[in-house]
Formats: sequence, C-alpha cells, structure tokens
Amino acid sequence: MNENASKSSLLQTDDLSTATIEALFEDAHLFLDGSFHKHLEHKLIITLFFENSTRTRSSFEVAAKRLGASVVHLDVAKSSTSKGETLYDTAANLDAMGPDAIIIRHANAGVPLAVSQHVKASVINAGDGAHAHPTQALLDLFTIRQHFGAHHIKGKKIAIVGDIKNSRVANSNIELLTRFGLEVILVAPPHFMPDTHLRHTYHLQDVIDEVDIIMSLRTQTERHSQQAYASLEDYARDYCITQKLIGERDIILLHPGPVHRNIDIDDAMLADPRSKVLDQVRNGVAVRMAVLKHLISKQ
Ligand code: NCD
Repeated sequence: MNENASKSSLLQTDDLSTATIEALFEDAHLFLDGSFHKHLEHKLIITLFFENSTRTRSSFEVAAKRLGASVVHLDVAKSSTSKGETLYDTAANLDAMGPDAIIIRHANAGVPLAVSQHVKASVINAGDGAHAHPTQALLDLFTIRQHFGAHHIKGKKIAIVGDIKNSRVANSNIELLTRFGLEVILVAPPHFMPDTHLRHTYHLQDVIDEVDIIMSLRTQTERHSQQAYASLEDYARDYCITQKLIGERDIILLHPGPVHRNIDIDDAMLADPRSKVLDQVRNGVAVRMAVLKHLISKQ
C-alpha cells in the first residue's frame, strides 16, 4: 500500500503486506457481522470509471456509504475527458476539490499508478486493463478463507479457468493466492494461456480430480484486437463449468462476474450451493469497507 508514502494508494495486491491483509480481513469480518461505525464521516470519495462496471463501482459505493463517506461519481461519458481534456488534467481538477480517495477503472494498464503521481488523494485501482484488480483478488481470498477456514488454505489447489491472458483478476489472484500458500493451476486454451512458470494445462479434465477450487473467468472480448477462437459456444464446449462435469466432487466455484451464463458456468452449477458467486459479491462490500477505512480514515 505504498506504506512509506504519506498518502496510501492501492494499485496492486503486492502494495499490501501480508500482515496488513490479515488486519483488513479482521475488519471485514466485523463489517460482515454488521458491526461498524461512521469511520469515514466527512470523507469524500470520487469514483472515476472509464470502463463499464457491473458491480465493482456499486460495491465501492455501498462500502463507502456504509462507513459514512460521501461519494461522487464522475460520469466519464459526459466529462471533459471526452471533450479532449487529458486524463491528468481531469484528475488534477478533481483532486483540487479535495477528495480523500479517487477510485479509478481504466482500459489501459498503468493509468491508476500514473494518476496517483498527479494527485494528493489516495488512489484505488478498481481494474486497469489486463494488469491488476487488487480488491477483487482480496475478496476472492477472503471468500476462500471463509469456506475453508483461515488456517486451512495452505496447499489448497485452485484452477483458474478461461481467458487468463487478458484477465486482471487472474493476475492479481496469482500474486495473492500463491503468497497465501495456494497452488494455482492455469487452465485455458492456447490463445488464452499466458507465458507462465505456473503449472498449466489446456484440459480441465487433467486437474478436476485434484483441485479444491475453480475460478472461472469471463472471456474478455473487449480486450481482443482479433478473435482468436471460433465462438464462445465453441469455448464453452471445453471450458464451461457444468454441474455434470463437477459431479459430486468437493469443489467450490468462484467467478468475479459478470458471468456469461452457460458459457462460463451452466445454470445448474450457478444455482448449486458450491457456487460462491453471490458470497463473493457480499464479501466484496465488507472487504472494500476495510480497504477504504485502512487507506483514508486516518488522513
Ligand atoms: C471483472 C473486471 O471488471 O475485471 N469484474 C469485476 O470486477 N467484477 C472481471 C470481468 O469483467 O470479467
């Protein structure tokens, strides 16, 4: 969390020490139980989303409001950036209004870092290109620990399945989950497989009998300059997580959303209690409350 700097920003998971993450999760557990105060009363948070967001923006907004902060959303489509103002001028102008934090999502990797160097506010990366999505990885780890118990995750095996090459969620999770002792196995067709030192396979069947967790990812069609596959239906034939495929196995299923139904995960498996997709959403609010409190409550 740029822990030596006077202000704190969260740009990628390795900004956070393991001890800080443990402290964040303690707070998140309290928040989940409904025990929280207006830790962020009089704080102002600006959300700046240059890419669509199904739940991350509202999750941050709910988190901030539960802690008493005011939240202003800059409608990027109507903002001066779309009238030709540079991103940095937009950020500097917003910063002049004195927000405590700016939460930013952008299609280009590195934008939150660059913005953080131009503003006084804490910057939180809500997803930059295919680079990082730190709060998503935190809530994924939190959800895994909630299921297995904090002291029982070392050595657990997780298959990350899908468009890994273009996924900031995969990137952030690979750093965080391996740091917490999980074995990450990448499962993807060749065109979605990054260069990796991690164990990897093109076939889910190769690892299905040994994994404890499957994290399914959405195909990042918006990040493909050329379509390197026949169709999503074609992809689904080999990579859709179906109830039939999982059978009776003791595997939990995660997905950051939005889910391509019956492409990423079939209807039956989404409704199965082993699917933790809605727990991820619930936990996401609590984890983001903890992150916001940690970054800005003492400023
Ligand atoms: C992810 C994202 O935007 O990176 N979604 C999310 O934050 N909930 C994953 C995705 O869009 O596929």
